[in-house]
Amino acid sequence: MTPAVAFFNQKGGTAKTTSTLNVGAAMAEQGLRVLAFDLDPQASLTMALGIDVQSLPLSVYDLLVDEAVMLAEVAQPTRIPGFDLVPSHPDLAAAELELLSELERERKLSLKLRAAQPLPYDVVLIDSPPALNILSINILVAADTLVIPIEPHPLSLMVLRRLFETVNRVRRLNPRLEVLGFLPTKVHHSSRLAADMLATLREQFPDLPLLPPIPLSVKGAESVAEHSSILQYQPRSSLAAAYRQAAAEIARRVGSPSHV
Ligand SMILES: Nc1ncnc2c1ncn2[C@@H]1O[C@H](COP(=O)(O)OP(=O)(O)OP(=O)(O)O)[C@@H](O)[C@H]1O
Ligand SMILES: [Mg+2]
Repeated sequence: MTPAVAFFNQKGGTAKTTSTLNVGAAMAEQGLRVLAFDLDPQASLTMALGIDVQSLPLSVYDLLVDEAVMLAEVAQPTRIPGFDLVPSHPDLAAAELELLSELERERKLSLKLRAAQPLPYDVVLIDSPPALNILSINILVAADTLVIPIEPHPLSLMVLRRLFETVNRVRRLNPRLEVLGFLPTKVHHSSRLAADMLATLREQFPDLPLLPPIPLSVKGAESVAEHSSILQYQPRSSLAAAYRQAAAEIARRVGSPSHV
């Protein structure tokens, strides 16, 4: 089965969306066929790719709530060659309530992914909402592995306890689920806060790898304004280089084809 990697952290603003976009773009640049899922009703990833959410015939909302809708109908190409997207839609916010009375409501995403195997992609990347709700649980049940984007912030470490508790509970539904590692984002090389956070992560989670850090840079937001990834917008920037390294490491760890 194509490995599914979710960028997951219930804390807002940790660069989940920016990282899904740029890790995906870097993997596509390296020759992998990437399918990204936007599972956030904010639809930030979808909009960052220049897709008009209002004019979408189908979105991940339909995939989750309508038995008859299949993955291949919803996945669409983006302006990044080799990078396809299952777009989000603001309606996804209603999915929480609509799924409440459904059987196997935690497995909707997983069942649709399984029904679509074998996928014409080398890797699936999932952008998560900043929440621990039924959408997040669907992600944890469907994913093989989690990348936890984490930014230097006093609250960043506090939310991890709850995150790991949730992961452990979901393992009953998805025993394969693993944590691939932390992706430190918005790291300023001379910041005390960043150095302290990295030291604490190493100390408290000695078994979890720290992926190559992503530097603090305004260029990420600029590239989103241009509806592209940093790899297209400024391919020789330090931000693009960092995302290439992180992507190569993630691909290596999930065992994707070796041309990365
Ligand atoms: N390396 C970076 N340096 C500076 N700013 C960044 C960096 N990466 C992301 N940002 C900015 O941080 C903000 C949050 O990023 P992003 O939307 O990717 O986070 P998120 O975790 O997806 O947020 P949410 O939880 O709301 O979905 C955005 O304004 C983004 O442009
Ligand atoms: Mg986001």
